[in-house]
Amino acid sequence: MQNNYSYKGALEASERIGWRVEDIIGGEKRLDFTKPFMPASLAQTKQLSFLTESEQRTLNQIRGHEYLAMFGLVEEFILPYVVDHARSQLSGDDYQVRALLQFAGEEAKHIHLFKRFRQEFEAGFGNKCDFIGPAEDVKRFVLSHSPLGVGIAILHIEWMTLRHYIEGVKDNQDLDPQFKSLLKHHWLEESQHTKLDTLILEALAEAATEKEIDQAFQEYADIGGFLDNGIKQQTEFNVESFVQATGRNLSKSEREAMTAAVLKGMRWTYLGTGMTHPNFLATVEQISPEGKKQIDAMAPMFC
Ligand SMILES: [Fe+2]
Ligand SMILES: [Fe+2]
Repeated sequence: MQNNYSYKGALEASERIGWRVEDIIGGEKRLDFTKPFMPASLAQTKQLSFLTESEQRTLNQIRGHEYLAMFGLVEEFILPYVVDHARSQLSGDDYQVRALLQFAGEEAKHIHLFKRFRQEFEAGFGNKCDFIGPAEDVKRFVLSHSPLGVGIAILHIEWMTLRHYIEGVKDNQDLDPQFKSLLKHHWLEESQHTKLDTLILEALAEAATEKEIDQAFQEYADIGGFLDNGIKQQTEFNVESFVQATGRNLSKSEREAMTAAVLKGMRWTYLGTGMTHPNFLATVEQISPEGKKQIDAMAPMFC
């Protein structure tokens, strides 16, 4: 297939980058609640003109909390997926084994990182923000699908993470530096994960029958639908968290407008940015041109 990704190259990059959770959060390194956490392109709350600037920021920070929790949730199924795949390859190429175990180790570290940021958020925000779950149920549902189907969903997640940082965060000077640092460090390691997941998928697709490939694309759509149901529920939680945090009495139409904006923002953040990523689409098209067409047809609902 047409890329120059290799296990050796990904491992070398990963070993150069390696950072520690303790270097990024804790001690003097705190979230600054006078600043927004999420880029406007993902938060999508600017059009809510009935909010004051401070209310806009509060809603943006609630979306930041949701981002931490959502990644905590998806990393919980990525980790066992990678560990299971690595286990089946242990007698293979040395670089492959090491790169896959490094990938798993990084995802375990990311789970820890997102948890630490959530603790900092909860300590500084002043109000509790609800979040969907539990992660155990999400993991059970997602991993009940075939490795190829789950692998497509994970490739979507890895590429969307890169896009969030490059398009919305990298050159953004308005965001809280701490939150920005989280997204940067996550991006640095996810850059290798996109390559490794592509290699995993290519190998799985090569060994799969046409029927198994068709099924995998159906499973990808099922996992997307499952996440979208979670997004709808989380939208309600976010709006309620906003009301609790600000004490603002929203009129019916204001509440509807906020619900619509948060839903649109979340769908774009977790579904649209992945489903329309050119590199994600290039890989799925190589596996199945028909599968890629199905994704193209679904995408507008989330963009
Ligand atoms: Fe990650
Ligand atoms: Fe990752």
